[in-house]
Amino acid sequence: MNKILIESLSLQYSDGTESLRNVSMEIPANAITVLFGPAGGGKSTLLRCLNRLNDLADVQVVEGKVLIDGENILAPQTDVIALRRKVGMVFARPVVLPMSIRANLTYGLELAGEKRRSKLDEAVERSLRLAALWDEVKDRLDDPAIALSGGQQQRLCLARSLALQPEIILLDEPTSGLDPISTGKVEAALQELKKDYTIVLVPHSVQQAARTADYAAFFLQGELIEYGEGSVIFTAPKEKRTEDYITGRFG
Ligand SMILES: Nc1ncnc2c1ncn2[C@@H]1O[C@H](COP(=O)(O)OP(=O)(O)OP(=O)(O)O)[C@@H](O)[C@H]1O
Ligand SMILES: [Mg+2]
Repeated sequence: MNKILIESLSLQYSDGTESLRNVSMEIPANAITVLFGPAGGGKSTLLRCLNRLNDLADVQVVEGKVLIDGENILAPQTDVIALRRKVGMVFARPVVLPMSIRANLTYGLELAGEKRRSKLDEAVERSLRLAALWDEVKDRLDDPAIALSGGQQQRLCLARSLALQPEIILLDEPTSGLDPISTGKVEAALQELKKDYTIVLVPHSVQQAARTADYAAFFLQGELIEYGEGSVIFTAPKEKRTEDYITGRFG
C-alpha cells in the first residue's frame, strides 16, 4: 500500500536554486525507501517536504502535490503540528535535549498534554525498545542524555521521535557521525521498525543504501533519475547515470 504519493513536485529556493524538478514517486508502507545520489541532488529538500519543514526555509515556488494517506499535505489548510507528529524526523547529528534520558522521551508527550506517569513510563520503555536502546540505558534513565555515546544519542533521537507514535519516520543521514557498530545497531533497528512504519532514509553512503533499501530512488541535480526495488537498482540499474554513480565513477 502506498503511504506517500508524490506528484510532479518541483521546488525552487528564493535564490533561484531549482532543487526538485517534477519529481513523482510512490512510497510504500512497511518498507525502507532510500533516497540517494550525489551532494546537492535534492534529497534533504525532498525529505523536508514530507513534513513541511521547508516551511521554515526560504522557499519561493512549490508545485505539485504530496499526498499522505490520500491527503495533500502541501495544502494551506494542513495542520502542520499534527502532520509533524505523524511524520517524525531524525537528523544527521543527534541533538539531545539537556535533560535526563527519560525526560528527552517524555518532553514531547508532556507538551502534548500527557501527564499520567504510567503512560509516560510506558512510552519511555516502548520507544527505547523500538530504537534498540533499552538494554543499554534501562538502569540509568535519570542520567543526563548528554552522557551517552554518539551512537546511543542517535538512537535516543530515534526513540524520541517514536515516543510520539508517528506513522512515517524520515531519517537524513542518521549514521553519518557513527562508528560501524553503532551504525549497525541503527540499521538493525530500522529493519525491525519497518514492520510497523513507513521509513524514508537518506543514507550516508552507497553501501548503506544497498544494505538497507527495499526501494531506492536515485537523485541527480533535483531530478529523480531512477526508482525501483533496491535489489534491482544496486545490481542491474537501467540508467547509465545510476550505474556510474553506484560503481563510483562519479559523485
Ligand atoms: N535553505 C536553502 N536555501 C537555498 N538553497 C538551498 C537550501 N537548502 C538546499 N538548497 C539547495 O538545493 C539544492 C539541493 O540541496 P539538498 O540539501 O536538498 O541536497 P542533498 O541531496 O540533500 O545534498 P547532500 O548529499 O549534500 O546532503 C542544492 O543546490 C542546495 O544548495
Ligand atoms: Mg542532504
